[in-house]
Amino acid sequence: MTLIENVNDLRAWRRTAGKVLFVPTMGALHDGHATLVREARKLAGKEATVAVSIFVNPLQFGPNEDFDRYPRTLEADMALCEAAGADMVFAPPVKEVYYPDRSIQILEKSLSTVLCGASRPGHFDGVCTVVAKLFNLVQPDESVFGKKDYQQLAIIRRMVRDLDFPVTIHGVETVREADGLAMSSRNRYLSADERAQAPALRAALVKARDAWRGGVTGSSRLLSLIHEHLASAAPLGREDYVSLVDQQTLQPLELARPGSLIALAVFFDRARLIDNIELDK
Ligand code: PAJ
Repeated sequence: MTLIENVNDLRAWRRTAGKVLFVPTMGALHDGHATLVREARKLAGKEATVAVSIFVNPLQFGPNEDFDRYPRTLEADMALCEAAGADMVFAPPVKEVYYPDRSIQILEKSLSTVLCGASRPGHFDGVCTVVAKLFNLVQPDESVFGKKDYQQLAIIRRMVRDLDFPVTIHGVETVREADGLAMSSRNRYLSADERAQAPALRAALVKARDAWRGGVTGSSRLLSLIHEHLASAAPLGREDYVSLVDQQTLQPLELARPGSLIALAVFFDRARLIDNIELDK
């Protein structure tokens, strides 16, 4: 596996890489990321190349967010990428990616007004800008994203459509700890008590999904099941949002339909956790 840290070397690598499957990440990798890399390896077969980027993107962090303390664990990340079947890791410093006087960026004006975008202004513009740049640098044929960040996946699909990137996007199911908590680099910010309560996010979503399976369709009924479960099982958490939305437009729904999405975000003291569940199609 090759490590590339600057744009010149990346350009040279690309000229001979052939078909490329690409997994963008911010590092601090866990088994969720490894699953994306394994999926890319599967899609690539023996012939194509699997590339992973590791870059903590300053543009997608708000002024009071965790850019400075975001974990940086390059050596362990490289070992995980290699074990999962990556051929190349691109891990540039910030100055390789952004000019100090950069003045052009991507704005997403619809899908990012709701859910996480509502409480993280500019976040998805930062994500789109870096993913567009990484797509231009790595020039992948296909790219793999996790459904854990469902809104991000929907926005990347929209960007690829609206800006004609010749990249096929794949979504991979959320990888969870044994107790249901979605794996996240930010889980390490949780105290022991918070960690014990965090599986309530998944449990609350499953409760609502089971109620839907039992015939409940009203948004207010489904969402209040979630509010009630979180209030009793995760008192250390504070809800940011809980929403029933259309899986493509991400706009709120009054009535659940097959394939609709229920998404939530909960603040703990130092961590903001997200999760979601798709209703059966
Ligand atoms: P990061 O949070 O490192 O996530 C990288 C990829 O891993 C994303 O596609 C995310 O959805 C996926 N992922 C994270 N946890 C997962 C889990 N438990 N199960 C399945 N997939 C999971 O998302 C980003 O980085 C950045 O915004 C990025 C796209 C790299 C742009 O900077």
